[in-house]
Amino acid sequence: MNNLASPFIMVIFGASGDLTSRKLIPALFKLYCNGLFPEKFVILGVSRTYFSDESFRDKMHKNLESTIIDSKEKYCLSSFVSNIFYFAMDTRDEHVYSLLSSKLEEFTGKLEIAPNYLFYLATPPNMYSEICKSLAKESLQKEKPGKYWRRIIVEKPYGKDISSAKDLDKVFTGIFKESQIYRIDHYLGKETVQNILVFRFSNGIFEPLWNRNYINYVEITAVEKLGVLDRAGYYDGAGALRDMVQNHLMQLLGIMAMEPPAKFNEQMFRDEVHKVIESLRPITEEDVSQYVVRGQYVSPSDNNTVKGYRDENGINPDSRTETFVAMKLFIDNWRWSGVPFFIRTGKAMPTKVSEIVIHFNSTPYELFEKQCTGLYCNKLIIRILPDEGIVLEFGLKEPGSSFEVRQVSMDFKYDSLSEGKRLPEAYERLLLDCIMGDPMLYSRTDTVEASWKFLDPVLKSWENDENNPLYGYPVGTWGPIEQEKLMTDGRTWTNPCKNLTNNKDYCLL
Ligand code: BG6
Repeated sequence: MNNLASPFIMVIFGASGDLTSRKLIPALFKLYCNGLFPEKFVILGVSRTYFSDESFRDKMHKNLESTIIDSKEKYCLSSFVSNIFYFAMDTRDEHVYSLLSSKLEEFTGKLEIAPNYLFYLATPPNMYSEICKSLAKESLQKEKPGKYWRRIIVEKPYGKDISSAKDLDKVFTGIFKESQIYRIDHYLGKETVQNILVFRFSNGIFEPLWNRNYINYVEITAVEKLGVLDRAGYYDGAGALRDMVQNHLMQLLGIMAMEPPAKFNEQMFRDEVHKVIESLRPITEEDVSQYVVRGQYVSPSDNNTVKGYRDENGINPDSRTETFVAMKLFIDNWRWSGVPFFIRTGKAMPTKVSEIVIHFNSTPYELFEKQCTGLYCNKLIIRILPDEGIVLEFGLKEPGSSFEVRQVSMDFKYDSLSEGKRLPEAYERLLLDCIMGDPMLYSRTDTVEASWKFLDPVLKSWENDENNPLYGYPVGTWGPIEQEKLMTDGRTWTNPCKNLTNNKDYCLL
């Protein structure tokens, strides 16, 4: 993307919160330092906590100091921070939005710029509707094509289930046009996720294999070593299915399984992702335990000092919130009919890793001594994080006079492509795309809804059926043993190492 963005004002609701200082401001800072911002722009932090412009700038300045990687960024810091302002207001009070509107007009007047406004909802989700309605009362959502634009970015969770997601969407789409709504899923902003598209669709050699004729099963894993940390308030009401599966894992599944779009543009790309989610074979409430295993981390029996989920601060001691989910899914279309997809996510696991593993069918029969047989022999691993890269595993001849087979791998590491340069953070790409008016890497309303629709019976079954088990798994393990029942016909879960080339000798968890 070479064109410079037009001047804009970004209003961050929930500016005193963690997301603003940890993700948004650092991402905006990097974009600015890389020369991707127009000369004139304003970042206006909004929340209830009182700050003056100066004290908010100081807070952001201090925060950014620790992210600086070179002298260029050091040089940029003060000028970037001088574009940050703050407006203390109770976002639940609809009457103060006229003051916000005047404040925005004041900026556009002073800077002599078009009133291009980007609203970012970084507040608790229960405030989304009210903020939207209050913005509309002041007509702040109204844009004039060709003259100025208005956009809104919404953080997840986008609803709690199908009906609340629909209600929320009704509010949003009643006020903003779909083209103005940017539902953020930070997985789509990851370089390594975007690269799956380039890997699949810029090479002729993979496409012939990318289907039910050659692929036996696919695993999509996104697990973490850390537990719930200080997010009890949000997480205990959400759980792993809502937190990771409904959004990030569904998007990964869409990208992995989609058909090549006719053209690489936002509509055709998002159409193809959508079709995948629409093609998921429904799981009925009665069948949930056959296809889904949920778990919750517990203190390991040999180490009571490590906290289980229910011992964490702010968690209900009787909580039945899942911190682990494993699912078996089928995509009922021509390409994937009969190929199981296994997705897995969890907290308090042995390591943090996100990856896709594609298992190819084995050879029709065994020709060589010690030949690898079964479904472990030819794997393609697409590592999203950490140690980003791609590995292909296959068999070769062991040196010597026999025809013994040894499993080897060919690997590519992102480090080599980026020549040591830092990979941009997901939020950098996504924020810039929104400022430039490109929604391709944001979730579309129909896809969000299709994903909720698919998962709704799972949520209902967990809610309504007390016999639906929640299995405990000790902190630092790969989740409940019961997940094995999802794997049939010789298939197994891949427990990845932190190192992509997971030679067992140096597997560092
Ligand atoms: C967030 C979830 O969306 O993604 C968190 O709310 C999770 O619970 C995080 O830790 C994982 O993101 P990443 O990029 O670190 O894999």
